[in-house]
Amino acid sequence: MTSGSTMTAPPALDIDPFTPGNLCAPEAVQEAIRETAPVVYLTRYEMYAVGRYDLVQTALSDYARFTSTGGIGMSDIRKPGAWRTPSPIAEIDPPEHRNVRKTLQKVLSPIIIRQWREDFTRVAEAQADAIIASGSVEAMKDIVEPFILKVFPDALGIDMPREAFPLIGEMNFNQIGPYNDLTRKSVEAAGPHLENYEQYFSRESMVKGGFGEKIYAAEDDGGFPEGTAGVQVRSFLRAGTDTTIAGIGHTLYRLAQNPEQWAKLKENPAKAKAAFDEAIRLDSPSQLIHRTTVADIEVEGLALKGDVKVGCFIGAANLDPRRFPDPTAYDIDRGSTGVHLALGAGSHICIGQNIARLEAEILLQALVSRLSRIELDGEATYRPINTLRTLDRLPLRLVA
Ligand code: HEM
Repeated sequence: MTSGSTMTAPPALDIDPFTPGNLCAPEAVQEAIRETAPVVYLTRYEMYAVGRYDLVQTALSDYARFTSTGGIGMSDIRKPGAWRTPSPIAEIDPPEHRNVRKTLQKVLSPIIIRQWREDFTRVAEAQADAIIASGSVEAMKDIVEPFILKVFPDALGIDMPREAFPLIGEMNFNQIGPYNDLTRKSVEAAGPHLENYEQYFSRESMVKGGFGEKIYAAEDDGGFPEGTAGVQVRSFLRAGTDTTIAGIGHTLYRLAQNPEQWAKLKENPAKAKAAFDEAIRLDSPSQLIHRTTVADIEVEGLALKGDVKVGCFIGAANLDPRRFPDPTAYDIDRGSTGVHLALGAGSHICIGQNIARLEAEILLQALVSRLSRIELDGEATYRPINTLRTLDRLPLRLVA
């Protein structure tokens, strides 16, 4: 529907979601965006924002009104000054998106995933055996990061120095937001690793037999536009590393805070995936993804102008009391899998979601089978990153 003159514009909000304080404790910003109106206008960033479950789901999936071709970040990649090559999977709309997605799904065949399950299990069990006697750990650095930074790049068949991952990850997720101090500093910090960055995704650098090599083979068979295989591999690495580290970190945190939920998992380890999904509902790693309005449109009686960015506040939507009763409670039996929006919605819904769940399931089961419980052993702290919610420190006591 096009806008009529009687419709009102979305109310303006003068808040800044991207201060370190608001990023580490986002609840007040989430509530302001979600509860003020169905759509609000963030004056500081000259863009719309949505935070209600229904509208975030709509904006993420209705590509006829909310396109991904302007980029999933805050700046419009089609405009001078912000121009960059679009991601050949995340920043295209259907129908173009359909073929690319189909080719990727084919490469991610059940045979590949079965092989990954065996490899991930071997690593998780060895790491759990090694850590169990430690008693106290900082779970992000001692458990979660080493696990994901071992299994995921190996599975993709990419050989990149491990110390580069957190720096490049932080830069990527800052860049999806505004060009503020956090972005500037993280670009600087990642700088030394960026020189050879493209090289890690070249055809010659792909590890034999890995997923990356299969992506190049799919390009040779015409499954992707020529010259995009390397960027596809890079998109996978970018999208799947820090998000999964964050998600497993949140799961361990919630299980430590809620011993009765740990007890449920211990009794039935098949609930590991549900424990992960409920944790990423509560603390969504990917807090914010953008779309762009394709024309002047009406949304719930509000007039939105065309060609303006729309921030989809996923973290706010996953705490929407209209959709989730008692939204801040962590309940692994809630049934949030397939309902929450932490993995997106519509045609761009996370293509790696089952890989993330597999990693979480294997690591959680390795821990739950060896420990009688986990307890917080100090204050957990968050890392301020413009669009990623992740823990910086998670001190845990492991009780064997
Ligand atoms: C907890 C872990 C993860 C979270 C929270 C997450 C979140 C998301 C979200 C919100 C989207 C939708 C983006 C959009 O609509 O524009 C997405 C897409 C995507 N994710 Fe994930 N992701 C996770 C893990 C992974 C993993 C492990 C991989 C790779 C194996 C991956 C690869 C991708 C790719 C390639 C896309 C783009 C899909 C498309 O545009 O069709 N993600 N992810």
